[in-house]
Amino acid sequence: MDDLATAMAAAAAEVDEALDILLPAVEGPEAPLLEAMRYATIGGGKKMRAFLVLEGARQFNMARRNALRVAAAVEMLHAYSLVHDDLPAMDDDDLRRGKPTVHKAWDEATAILVGDALQTQAFATLAAEDTHPDPSVRAELCLRLALAAGARGMVGGQMLDILAESATTPHDEASIGRLQLLKTGKLIEFSAEAGAILGKAPSSLRHALTFYGREIGAAFQIADDLLDLTATPEEVGKATAKDAAAGKATLVSLLGPDRARIHAERLVDQAKTHLDPFDDRADHLRQLADHVVRRRN
Ligand code: IPE
Ligand code: IPE
Ligand code: MG
Ligand code: MG
Ligand code: MG
Repeated sequence: MDDLATAMAAAAAEVDEALDILLPAVEGPEAPLLEAMRYATIGGGKKMRAFLVLEGARQFNMARRNALRVAAAVEMLHAYSLVHDDLPAMDDDDLRRGKPTVHKAWDEATAILVGDALQTQAFATLAAEDTHPDPSVRAELCLRLALAAGARGMVGGQMLDILAESATTPHDEASIGRLQLLKTGKLIEFSAEAGAILGKAPSSLRHALTFYGREIGAAFQIADDLLDLTATPEEVGKATAKDAAAGKATLVSLLGPDRARIHAERLVDQAKTHLDPFDDRADHLRQLADHVVRRRN
């Protein structure tokens, strides 16, 4: 494994440990809910958003235990978005992270509730005193995650994504860019920015990380759409070759895979320029930007 892959695997293991503590199994009638929440979060996925939080926090020498709580909270929010994204009323997928989706392994009602409970648990985790001694830092984390996740963020983007399936006129580059900024970009942007919030960084450095996150977020969704066309389910752990048939509005369908890839690579180059104010401690973030478009899962 190269340096980045090793660092991402180590971070994923640490985040899984944090999630294991934050989402303890329970006994009693609500046991299946917690079991399904753990199934949706622990031991699967790249944990890239968590890695962004941890690497961002490292720029400002933040204590690992604080950063890990924020990283776990972001992954709970992200896992909720995936559980709901896979529901029959949305993308109707049966496979996620190489396993049956939550609504397949349990049922639709459980999947809806798992998403709801993961979302609230994410905010409870950020708001708790263990996350940061300064309440204004905790409030800022909650506010920024709420904005990234809500109607003007991920949820708004998911609405546009679903509406686009039945649109009668094709989407242009600007409207697809906006859709993807909201559905994927905002949470990745928050993940990149969160370490600066934790570290009470000067606004110039905080903004540099925000812009870095915005560009890699856009590139990340283009790469996801390219993988839908070019990867196998074994590689990505989810069904592929679905977006075109579903009528998804993607840059891949608008520009074709070659131009979409070039567009994503340009975004990655721009992303890296935002890291110029940081020293070699930001090298993992630089490597991650390149990885986002080269990845095969
Ligand atoms: C999938 O995200 C959903 C998108 C925004 C494209 P990831 O590709 O990060 O999924 P996991 O967390 O690794 O499973
Ligand atoms: C999902 O985008 C983005 C979310 C907010 C969950 P996709 O629908 O393309 O993600 P996958 O391909 O199912 O992981
Ligand atoms: Mg979707
Ligand atoms: Mg989907
Ligand atoms: Mg996809």
